[in-house]
Amino acid sequence: MIRQSLKFRKTLTIICIVALLIFIFLKLKQDKVYDIQIAKEDQKSDDVQGLSYRDFNRQPKKDIPKEESIRKMETKIVGDNTKQELQEAKARIEQLEKKLAVLEGRIPQKYPEVKYLGYKHRKRILVTGGAGFVGSHLVDVLMMRGHEVIVVDNFFTGRKRNVEHWFGHRNFEMIHHDIVNPLYVEADEIYHLASPASPPHYMQNPVKTIKTNTLGTINMLGLARRVGAKILIASTSEVYGDPMVHPQPESYWGHVNPIGPRACYDEGKRVAETLAYSYAKQEKVVVRVARIFNTYGPRMHASDGRVVSNFIMQALQNLTITVYGNGKQTRSFCYVSDLVDGLLALMDSSYTLPVNIGNPVEHTIEEFAVIIKDQVPGCRSTVATGAAVEDDPQRRRPDIAIAEKHLHWSPKISLQEGLQRTIDYFKEELSRTTFYNNQTYMDANVKLLH
Ligand SMILES: NC(=O)c1ccc[n+]([C@@H]2O[C@H](COP(=O)([O-])OP(=O)(O)OC[C@H]3O[C@@H](n4cnc5c(N)ncnc54)[C@H](O)[C@@H]3O)[C@@H](O)[C@H]2O)c1
Repeated sequence: MIRQSLKFRKTLTIICIVALLIFIFLKLKQDKVYDIQIAKEDQKSDDVQGLSYRDFNRQPKKDIPKEESIRKMETKIVGDNTKQELQEAKARIEQLEKKLAVLEGRIPQKYPEVKYLGYKHRKRILVTGGAGFVGSHLVDVLMMRGHEVIVVDNFFTGRKRNVEHWFGHRNFEMIHHDIVNPLYVEADEIYHLASPASPPHYMQNPVKTIKTNTLGTINMLGLARRVGAKILIASTSEVYGDPMVHPQPESYWGHVNPIGPRACYDEGKRVAETLAYSYAKQEKVVVRVARIFNTYGPRMHASDGRVVSNFIMQALQNLTITVYGNGKQTRSFCYVSDLVDGLLALMDSSYTLPVNIGNPVEHTIEEFAVIIKDQVPGCRSTVATGAAVEDDPQRRRPDIAIAEKHLHWSPKISLQEGLQRTIDYFKEELSRTTFYNNQTYMDANVKLLH
């Protein structure tokens, strides 16, 4: 009986196991069919959108189309925005490429030839006002002689364009700085030229003109003392004022109205000279003082109100040439390369007192107007007189005996030759209409001589 009962239990267990196995098999088969169905759905959705994204969370079938359409819309909006952004970026890149081409065109590929100087002979030279008319010509010569040149300028009347042919040269450095504030650089020599020079410019801000010539000069003399540099101060024939002595020797003390419209410049320069000799006496600074007479040449400001630039611009445009006053006042004009040679000779000399540097050939302003008119081909201008200028000096001509004796210097460029070069320069300036024909001027003779 017991044996029979055991056999029955065994059979029941086997039946249960077999039934369980069949159930498991059927269940697995059903799952596999469902998986294949879902995979087919996914495949369809991927085909439509071309995306590789797969939803592993198996959302209910009825939600799939809704999500898909949202996704589609989002993709379209993002696509449109991206397209627009791309187009904008393309336009901006094109703009920048054009700008870059212009800027690259302005950087000289080839610098004027520069002499190589060994470290024993190469000096580090600071030129204040080096982006101005005279300063930029001086910089050209110093660079071509192989020195390291630092230009300091606040661009009040100077222009980067005057020195941009040196940008990037390893011997050249440009500092945008107002010399009324202290400056800390190292230098062996300083040419201190920073100051507006033409009456409309220095009268525009008389207080600033005095500050530049007094505080600015103190700063430069202080720098010279600190670094042990030799310093040349660019003074002016204006220290003689409306002179009572003719021609003017350096020993003449001058005749200046201390409260007139030109006083900010005239007295500013007189104080600059006093400061130079005070630093020389008290602080043992090695100073040179150049009393510069009227100078002209390329890179003068076309609208600086000075005789040469005024007359040439008027003659080139067939406008009336205006002579202020009766035209009997005299001036003597020195070509800029002669002045630069004089400044270099003075710096290298051992002469410590002020030296006149200018051209002693004297003309009345009236004569001068006619000379310029005749030298501009086809000029149809007439010469007319205007109201006299207050405190305008009546006679101006340098006595250059000291420069001849101690510097072995005298001007070489004739008025006719200098005027021709200047007229050519202004002609070029007038014809300049775009950024592209903005070539910088470089004196061909300076290139040849140095
Ligand atoms: N050109 C002449 O006929 C003449 C005559 C006599 C004296 N000078 C003297 O020669 C020097 C140069 O004259 P220029 O004709 O070349 O004049 P400019 O105006 O062309 O040059 C003067 C330069 O000094 C810069 N400058 C002015 N104030 C400055 C400041 N506070 N800090 C830094 N830079 C400053 C200007 O931006 C400019 O680049 C001046 O000191 C001037 O008094 C010139």
